[in-house]
Amino acid sequence: MLNQEVYDELVAKFEKLYGMKPEIVAYAPGRIEVLGNHTDYNEGYVFSAAIDKGTFFAVAPAADRTCELTAGDFMETARFTLDTVAPAKEMTWQNYVTGTFNWLFDGEPAKAAHGWKGMFLGNIPLGAGLSSSAALEMCTVLALSKLYGIEKDKTTLAKIGQKAEHTFAGCPCGLLDQASSMYGKEGALVKSDFRSNTFETVPMGDGVAFMMVKSNAKHALVDGAYASRRAACEEAAKYFAGVLRKKVTHLRDVTMAEWVLYRGGLSETVARRAVHPIGEDERVVQGAALLENGDLKGFGALMYDSHESSRNWFENSCEELDAIVDAAKAIPEVYGARLSGGGFGGSCCLLVDPSAADRIAAAIAREYKAKFGDEPAISLIKPSEGAHLV
Ligand code: GLA
Repeated sequence: MLNQEVYDELVAKFEKLYGMKPEIVAYAPGRIEVLGNHTDYNEGYVFSAAIDKGTFFAVAPAADRTCELTAGDFMETARFTLDTVAPAKEMTWQNYVTGTFNWLFDGEPAKAAHGWKGMFLGNIPLGAGLSSSAALEMCTVLALSKLYGIEKDKTTLAKIGQKAEHTFAGCPCGLLDQASSMYGKEGALVKSDFRSNTFETVPMGDGVAFMMVKSNAKHALVDGAYASRRAACEEAAKYFAGVLRKKVTHLRDVTMAEWVLYRGGLSETVARRAVHPIGEDERVVQGAALLENGDLKGFGALMYDSHESSRNWFENSCEELDAIVDAAKAIPEVYGARLSGGGFGGSCCLLVDPSAADRIAAAIAREYKAKFGDEPAISLIKPSEGAHLV
């Protein structure tokens, strides 16, 4: 469904259900992660982009202290009051919205002047690793901050969504997904530095596009695997802080050369996990220089390296994602490919020559089907504008 169609459907459903027009509608896109995997919570670097699919949140004020929130696709409604905002165990989709509402009011939503009626609808495929949850948080935070006249900068709004993930949804994510949704720009990559929280946009030349290939492997970060990777990175950073004669707070402070010299003091598993974000940071820095020189092949090679690091060291890939990357390697018009986002399923991101898109998609689908019996969903992604009021 096109964004305009999603918007029209949302507004029509809102009016029908609530008997009034929405006062505010906000939109936030999903994201692709292009280079720099699991670096965000290690205070490192990432290249990402906002995509041309997203979620809309429509809202109108309520006369009293009640809130009604409807998931516009299956028309299920959660009801609560300003005094009962808490993580829900049923209809858990509401947690992304209620958590965001909660932290927009610094944990005291009871201080809001009135309740609201809200509804959301989007077109980001779920479980694809395209951050549909961050998109929902970001359109929620934009719409509700407008509704209550709260003014905060984009990074603060992104952090509100992240806090909702941590406390209401149970995923200890970094800030990548929310920041990419907020700072995305048409035709550009977002280059993030999660130490200083600075977000630059880097224009992408013509003659290149991203292709997302969704494996049919389950992608769920709200189980232990993501959290255990993050814990291993934190343990390693603590260790390096003890042995290196310099200030280390996160793996961002550790170089590959230092990892080689000192890894012996870490358990084998923790050492394997730590080398991934350390290498990814170096690849993003190299990648930035290559992009500046228009060296797409060089940039693509770093994407392939990134995937090898996921496959062999961080172990957040899976058979299906590996098969997609291996199939991509055999196609000359694919410059690079890697898993995108948390991992453990979800999608691969391919950097491709768009004039060969159909041929590439057909070849990847054929290989995938031969191995797994079903076809992956494949789409060309246009880096797009970030979150905004409609
Ligand atoms: C998920 C998380 C992000 C980031 C990526 C991996 O998308 O939500 O914060 O850690 O995984 O880079």
